[in-house]
Amino acid sequence: MLNIVILAAGKGTRMHSDKPKVLHSLAGRPLLQHVLDTATQLSPANTCIVYGHGGEAVPQAMAQYAASFVLQEPQLGTGHAVQQVLPQLNDNSTTLVLYGDVPLIQTATLKRLLQAPEALSLLTLHLDNPTGYGRIMRDSDGKVLSIVEEKDATPQQRATCEVNTGILAAPTRLLRSWLAKLDNNNKQGEYYLTDIVAMAVAQGVEVSTTQPANSWEVMGVNSKVQLAELERIWQQEQALQLLQLGVTLADPARLDVRGKLVCGRDVEIDVGCIFEGEVHLGNKVRVGAYTIIKNSNVEAGTHIAPYSHIELADIGGNCSIGPYARLRPGTKLHHDVHIGNFVEIKNSEIATGSKANHLSYIGDSTVGSRVNVGAGTITCNYDGVNKHRTIIEDDVFIGSDTQLIAPVTVRRGSTIGAGSTITRDTVESALTLSRSKQISVAGWQRPAKKAKEEK
Ligand code: UD1
Ligand code: CA
Repeated sequence: MLNIVILAAGKGTRMHSDKPKVLHSLAGRPLLQHVLDTATQLSPANTCIVYGHGGEAVPQAMAQYAASFVLQEPQLGTGHAVQQVLPQLNDNSTTLVLYGDVPLIQTATLKRLLQAPEALSLLTLHLDNPTGYGRIMRDSDGKVLSIVEEKDATPQQRATCEVNTGILAAPTRLLRSWLAKLDNNNKQGEYYLTDIVAMAVAQGVEVSTTQPANSWEVMGVNSKVQLAELERIWQQEQALQLLQLGVTLADPARLDVRGKLVCGRDVEIDVGCIFEGEVHLGNKVRVGAYTIIKNSNVEAGTHIAPYSHIELADIGGNCSIGPYARLRPGTKLHHDVHIGNFVEIKNSEIATGSKANHLSYIGDSTVGSRVNVGAGTITCNYDGVNKHRTIIEDDVFIGSDTQLIAPVTVRRGSTIGAGSTITRDTVESALTLSRSKQISVAGWQRPAKKAKEEK
């Protein structure tokens, strides 16, 4: 059985922000959410979050997780923080301690750490510059003796390059007995979680050490500089994974994935694209530069030209989208649909082979197959109070600059003359026009410019 404790009470002074540190975003998700999502992968019996600064903001932001929240006030050190959750922990479990400001720890590394359930398992790291970290002290046989914090260390101890990442796992009943014995007789006057190592050694409990697969997994966030560094590391990592799966990236350094991007074969992504939430791109999809796609599905063979914005849309195969297209939530395009520049679509379904190539707004509409929507055509779906639907049946041709005043149905095979304002349902296969006759006024004079009055 596994219990997970996440320490997240730190103030985060160096973030210079009103928001609690662990709620700042990395790749579109709060730092703490990364840790919780990773924790969930380990199927713990119980997850406890120790929070402090920022009041109820932390529990509120994470309300969707089945975790318990324990307030640590005041904050007297990492050992004191874990003491706060002891009533929630089960003596027959292993307790894993994670940190809300160490967001990129990976499940595979934690699984390795948890392989010795009877030992006190430490996640350690070898650093060229160990400044600031607790140092791992070993005897001449290499057995761990203790962890010494930088501020309490002698110059000789400080020369040790193996550091404590802070992440550890221990049998809960032992952890409980050790935490009961902590004191704060050290330079910082804090209750150090790290003091349990010497206690385990004195008791003859095995202390094992494991290293993370990547050093970025254990990097913490204390400032906006570190947050930005970690964001870049994570984005590079995701770009690398996509490249390894065969996705073509015009520049792996100019891609941002804030969520999960799943790609088929022979997908090509140009520079500056942002993918948010869950996005699926089918085989041979091409995404043009500076396109933003959020929580959407794009089927095989569709080409998206640059600067398109797509959110909560379902796009069929072999469509042509953009440049400068905006597909808003509730857009469903069947296959072979063409959506051109400056066309906005919201809450509408457009069937196979239809086209809206220039400057249109299609909202709350159902559009049939093989429809041609002329340039500048808009649906007037909002009467100031309520929204109404527009239905455009198959094989309709809508002339340019038409206004369709909803609720209205454009019947199968209708043609609408350019510049019409359509307020009533059209007649099937007929031409419908609503504009006044063109006249020419001979001898008409343009107004002359008035001479400016002298002041
Ligand atoms: C701690 C470790 C050190 C390790 C380093 C890695 C101890 C005594 N030292 O040092 O060996 O190398 O992390 O970064 O554990 N926290 C609370 N409540 C508290 C104090 C801290 O929740 O009362 C949380 C903080 O929010 C933070 C984490 O614990 O996420 C670490 O606290 P911090 O004060 O940064 O510990 P360090 O001094 O860096
Ligand atoms: Ca720290």
